[in-house]
Amino acid sequence: MYMTKRVKMRVNLAEARVLLERGEVVAVPTETVYGLAASLGQPEAIKKLFALKGRPLANPLIVHVSHWLEIAAYLDSFPLSLGLLADVFWPGPLTCVLPIRPSLIPEIARAGLTTAGFRIPSHPLTRKLLEQSGPLVMPSANLSGRPSATEASHVEEDFGSDFPVLDGGKCEKGVESTILVYRGEKWVVARLGAIAAEVFLPVLGYRPPLFKREEGQRPISPGQLFRHYAPRAALFLGPIPSGITHVIGFAERSYPFAKHSFILGSLFSPEEVAEKLYSTLRQLDIEKIEAAWVDTDFPRTGLWVTIAERLERAAQKNDELPHKKQPQINK
Ligand code: TXA
Ligand code: MG
Repeated sequence: MYMTKRVKMRVNLAEARVLLERGEVVAVPTETVYGLAASLGQPEAIKKLFALKGRPLANPLIVHVSHWLEIAAYLDSFPLSLGLLADVFWPGPLTCVLPIRPSLIPEIARAGLTTAGFRIPSHPLTRKLLEQSGPLVMPSANLSGRPSATEASHVEEDFGSDFPVLDGGKCEKGVESTILVYRGEKWVVARLGAIAAEVFLPVLGYRPPLFKREEGQRPISPGQLFRHYAPRAALFLGPIPSGITHVIGFAERSYPFAKHSFILGSLFSPEEVAEKLYSTLRQLDIEKIEAAWVDTDFPRTGLWVTIAERLERAAQKNDELPHKKQPQINK
């Protein structure tokens, strides 16, 4: 008799550690989004990780550690302001990119760059894992281009139900870490994230500017070159297209023209909206919805700026992405 039922491969902490030691890739929870972890010291495992995600090799990975003093060993120099940031924001949803001593980090992890991004996640399970496993590289645990995973079941949607996942429940923040890059003695924001840019003002004494790429200039964060966060459904952010039947919106508003509204949360709680963002985008795919209009009439301050940026990128059209390609129909 054949066993057709695949079992769910939820693993515990000890199992996750053993798999990582063996050079396997394991999905683990963080407070931002689930990460796809491989051991920093195992370039073959990191290669496997890039292949699994379908991630371009030019897109470097963030190094995750359990204590910020571990980071010092990799650095070329240690800016005073890194200590200030670490004190306030770590463990937590901040990634800092700094010049490193390249020989200490495998080339594949840093995509050949002489800088690397570091983060100390605050999720208790993964902190414990990091204490035992040592540094792990972790991109978000989604197929390249898809919305990030904020629940164990999202990881299984993208990688199959037999993929090893350390289940840590729903991610509290729901959007990725904010990335600050240290250049010319100052920090700039390379990716908006769970920490709003204005929150850095009292710590650094200035609000780090958002890095904007000039025409022809290389991006500060290679990931910005690639499409992200997109469901299969077409998203419309501008005027309401005629005939649209599905809406992504807010609890305080009614959308009488819509057959069905996906409610992101309250206009009074960007935290709630961020937390539900990717699961809502993924729900459109589960329900095989082809198009939805997104209500973007919300403030452009604090965490709302991150939410707006994610929605804009999720709505970008790009038929080149593997998961957006329509199957060929043979006539
Ligand atoms: O919240 C997060 O940061 C999650 C969790 C799992 O920790 N991780 C995450 O990783 O979002 P990923 O790989 O999906 O996004 C990392 C971003 C990419 O855009 C990458 O280009 C950028 O960080 N990055 C990594 N190293 C960099 C470097 N040395 N310089 C500039 N950007 C870098
Ligand atoms: Mg990602």
